[in-house]
Amino acid sequence: MDKTKSKKKIIIIIAVILVVIAAAVFAVFKLIGGSHVGIDNDPEAAPQGNSNTLVVYFSWSGNGQKMARWIAEEKGADIFRIVPADDYGSDYQACADRAKSELDNGIRPELAEHIDEEIMAKYDTIFLGFPVWWYDLPMPVWSFLEEYDLSGKTIIPFFSHNGSSNGANSLDRVKELAPNSDVKTDEAISINGNKVADSENEVKEWAAKF
Ligand SMILES: Cc1cc2nc3c(=O)[nH]c(=O)nc-3n(C[C@H](O)[C@H](O)[C@H](O)COP(=O)(O)O)c2cc1C
Repeated sequence: MDKTKSKKKIIIIIAVILVVIAAAVFAVFKLIGGSHVGIDNDPEAAPQGNSNTLVVYFSWSGNGQKMARWIAEEKGADIFRIVPADDYGSDYQACADRAKSELDNGIRPELAEHIDEEIMAKYDTIFLGFPVWWYDLPMPVWSFLEEYDLSGKTIIPFFSHNGSSNGANSLDRVKELAPNSDVKTDEAISINGNKVADSENEVKEWAAKF
């Protein structure tokens, strides 16, 4: 009887601890998850295939967009923003809920912008930028990687986060979704979202190495 009671107690304590941890993670992301106002929604110039390098990015609150534009400037590269057909809106909570549900259910959102196959074929190097979302790659980036034949291309990831500084599952996910590309996961750059605005030199110096 006593044993059963103490077992029950332990289970309750563990359950309470798990709930507290989940609530804390949620609160932290809500506080520092970023605000949509940081993004510039003006469309990027369409990729023309004039360079052998393409910078592709998905960004909700603007950090990855800044990094992408610095990289494109440094490399004289074309740039392409991954834009979901149904955008994530400006409300953090709605965005977080949808992102979680898409990840949990393997939903690949339809994209609004596409690159012609012949133009994509001209690039041999792709810098691929994204935020860590729910410890993984945001689902629009899954949509992008599955849409194109990227075999033989070099993919260099760059990302921002608010704590998952090693990218959590996102880098392995890029490898998984681009199995025939040379994905430079070990050379990816990781910047805390709160520090992106002050990281222009760091990002450009990193990009210059490739
Ligand atoms: C839906 C959502 C989920 C997030 N999940 C994580 C996460 O799992 N780990 C983390 O470190 N940061 C997480 N963040 C924080 C973002 O990665 C961080 O704010 C990033 O700099 C945003 O980049 P962006 O401005 O290009 O969208 C999340 C943010 C959002 C909006």
